[in-house]
Order: sequence, then C-alpha cells, then structure tokens
Amino acid sequence: MNVKRRLSRLLAAAGIPLLLAAAGGYVGLDAPSAQAATTGPCDIYASGGTPCVAAHSTTRALYGTYNGPFYQVRRSSDNTARDIGVLSAGGVADAAAQDAFCSGTNCVITILYDQSGRNNRLAQGPGGAVPGPGPGGSDNLADAKAAPITVGGKKAYGVYISPGTGYRNNTTNGVATGDQPEGIYAVLDGTHYNGGCCFDYGNAQTNGQADDIGIMETIYFGNNNWWGYGDGSGPWIMADMEWGLFSGVNPRYNPLAPINHRFVTAIVKGESNHWAIRGGNAQTGGLTNYFDGRRPNGYHPMKKEGAILLGIGGDNSNGARGTFYEGVLTSGYPTADTENAVQANITAAGYAASGGNPQQGVQIVGGQSGRCVDVPNSRTTNGTQVQIWDCGSGANQRWTSTSSRQLQVYGNKCLDANGQGTANGTQVIIWDCNGGTNQQWNINSNGTITGVQSGRCLDANAAGTANGTKLILWSCNGQANQRWTLRD
Ligand code: AHR
Repeated sequence: MNVKRRLSRLLAAAGIPLLLAAAGGYVGLDAPSAQAATTGPCDIYASGGTPCVAAHSTTRALYGTYNGPFYQVRRSSDNTARDIGVLSAGGVADAAAQDAFCSGTNCVITILYDQSGRNNRLAQGPGGAVPGPGPGGSDNLADAKAAPITVGGKKAYGVYISPGTGYRNNTTNGVATGDQPEGIYAVLDGTHYNGGCCFDYGNAQTNGQADDIGIMETIYFGNNNWWGYGDGSGPWIMADMEWGLFSGVNPRYNPLAPINHRFVTAIVKGESNHWAIRGGNAQTGGLTNYFDGRRPNGYHPMKKEGAILLGIGGDNSNGARGTFYEGVLTSGYPTADTENAVQANITAAGYAASGGNPQQGVQIVGGQSGRCVDVPNSRTTNGTQVQIWDCGSGANQRWTSTSSRQLQVYGNKCLDANGQGTANGTQVIIWDCNGGTNQQWNINSNGTITGVQSGRCLDANAAGTANGTKLILWSCNGQANQRWTLRD
C-alpha cells in the first residue's frame, strides 16, 4: 500500500478525511464511512502494522467491535466482585452498573482486563524490592469511585492511583522483550500527579527488582526530578527505562516542556537505539513531538522483560499518584501518522470532567455530633490531630478506605494513632502513609471504627459535639461519640 493510501486509511479510521493536493485541486481519499464511528485506537494501530498486544481501559472500548468486560470491581460490604463492561459493542463503560453495585459501600478496582485478546490483564501489584502497603507487601487497589468523568457525554470512571496503589502482570503474552520495538500510549489526568516514584504505565521487569538498566520502557507522568526533568516545574511525560526517568537523551535535564491539560495523551515508544516522547491534549488538537532521538548512554541495546505495570515503578516504588483512563502497548514501533490518527480518535471520543476535580473518598460523620472528621485548617503537616467540624466540600474531610485498611486523606496521608500509642487518650493524627498497624482501621458494622493495633475506638473527646472537638482513641463503650457513618 502506498504511503498516501495508508495514511488516508488511518485518518479515515479515526474519522478524519484526508485532503491531498491533486491536479486541479484537492481530492478526498477514503472518506470516513459509517464504520468509522466504531473504530478504536487498536484498530488504527492494527491498520498501521503495529497491533495492540495489551489494551486497558475503564472508560471505553479500544476496538470498534469490543464487547467484553473492561474492569472488575469488588465491594467491601460482602466482598463480592462484578465485571463492568460495555454499554454496547465498541462503546463506553456501563458506569451505572458500577454505581448500582457499589451503592452505599466502598469499591475497589481489582482487575483491568485486556481488550487485545491476549489476556494481558492487570491485577493487584504483588510488590517487589519495595513492598506495598497491602497484605504480604502487595499494593493497594484503586478506589473505583474516585475518578468520575464523562466520555461522549456518558459517565465513566478512571483508575485513581494514590500512593501505595499499583497494578501489575509479570507473565504476559506478546509484549516486547529485549530490544524489540514497541509503542505505548495512555490517556491520563494531567492535573493529578506528584513528585514521587513512579506513576508509570508500560513495559517492566518481571521480578520487581531494580537489578539492571534498560529492563523497563514505560510512560512516566508527574514532576519527579530525582533522575530526569524538563523545563519549569512539570508535570512532564518522561520514559522510565530503569535506574532513571528520562526527559531526553541526557541524564538529568533536557529541554522538555511541561504538559498539564485536564486530560493528557502521553506516548513513549522505542526501537533499537531510538525512542521518542509525544503528547497532547486528549480533548482537542494534535500531538507534540517532545523528544525523538537515540537511547541514553548505556541503554542500547534495551533489555525489556515484558511485564506490564500501572501506577508504580519497576521495583514497586509506590510513592506516586496519578489517574489512568485508557492505554495500550503495541508490537512494533508505530508511525507518527498512526499515532496522529489515534489522537484524533481519542479527541473524538469526548473526554470531559464531570464537574470539578474528582472527589476522592468519603466523609466520616459523627453519630452524636453530625459533624465530619476533619483535618484542621486543611493542614498537611504530619502530627496534626484530627477533629470534628461542620461537614463541607473540602478534601480535608475526604477519607479513602483502602484495601489495606488505611483511611487516607489528600492521597498520601493516613489516619494514625500518634506514636503507635494504644492507651486511652492517644491522639488520632495524620501522618505519611507507611503501612503500620497504627494506621489501620476496621470499619465495623455497629458503626465503630477501631484501631487494628490498639483495638480501641475512634472517639470524639469527652463526648464533645462542638466544632474543634479532637479525636482520640478510647475503649469502646457503645456511646454515640464512637459511632460513625460513611457518606459518599
Ligand atoms: O527508573 C526509575 C525507577 O527506579 C524505577 O521505576 C524503579 O524500579 C527504580 O527505583
């Protein structure tokens, strides 16, 4: 197929007519057909000769004919799970099914299915050189309700990664290994990031150890500057190739522009001694070429191992945050034309925020006071004692119950029994999440919240009900100042 015809096929697949100069004027080739409306990014990659070998999304089908599950949620009320799939073949997710299943209880995302048919699904990260905060050093699972958006006017949810959360598959099928070529794209929330290591999506080592360079090739998104960084204060799309996030060919600084649209299309691709970073606004416009060049010194040839991860570094470093909506890994190095057509398909899908930033977590409302568990003055300082206060809309009253029993606020702080105290009167504070048992809480069916380490109840001091009443641990006594309800 000649280049023009292949390009026109790609753009037609994305729903875009190609006008080419011809004798006497411009002619349209391969105008979009009715079929174009149900073409997905993976159809476009396949047309370009670089098919998807893994395709993950909680929001929409990545093939025009995909008719299966997107992801699985598990609710805490009875520990049962349910698959969430398409509303119709090739369409968006059935978010109403999640809403019905998760109503009145917490839900986590347990599986991101692989639409490519290769079963390269992502599940709870098992941990690695860096243990996760979950059971046996595994990672937390994402709160299924934390990242609501709309796609084409229909409600959908993203994968909200707070620090400690991660997904991985160490035994994949068809993913690039060694120096083989591949492409990766993801649609991410460009406003939800941090400088921790490492909000990655892509190809990683299979053993969770950072034991060599070049064993990873992933998209990184955030403003980590420990290895590589670009202009301004970020966030940047970089590549994690192990022992380094790279903003270009040089270790440390390269002239890489930050990118922070609400929805970002991020691309990293690599072939033998050649790789590139591309990106754009996932709601409108085309892609920018951020970097295109040779591998950094020592990274040729690559030693990719073909595991896939999301939200963590290769060694399971889990200090990062971010939100993922859709993404793929391909076999072969996609052309710019193919990626441009994928970007056109993404912008046509119609990603939109569903009213402000996603509200994460729930409010914890006192049974006696009717007031909310609150971090005073929205402080983020470790050691700040929590209180009850009139319920409001602030993030300082939003608590995310994780699968490892933490109650997280701000995405990285945990409700904590001060100094690992277990005595009556121990202050209940916020502290960096660290997996300790003094940061684990049981939310009980009788309305109490008990510390796993102490066995004592979360208690409004001296049965106070006024704004500013501090929270402490106290022996469970059945009183209303120890009863709490969770409110979405
Ligand atoms: O390469 C950056 C990070 O370094 C990797 O993700 C991790 O495995 C290591 O800590």
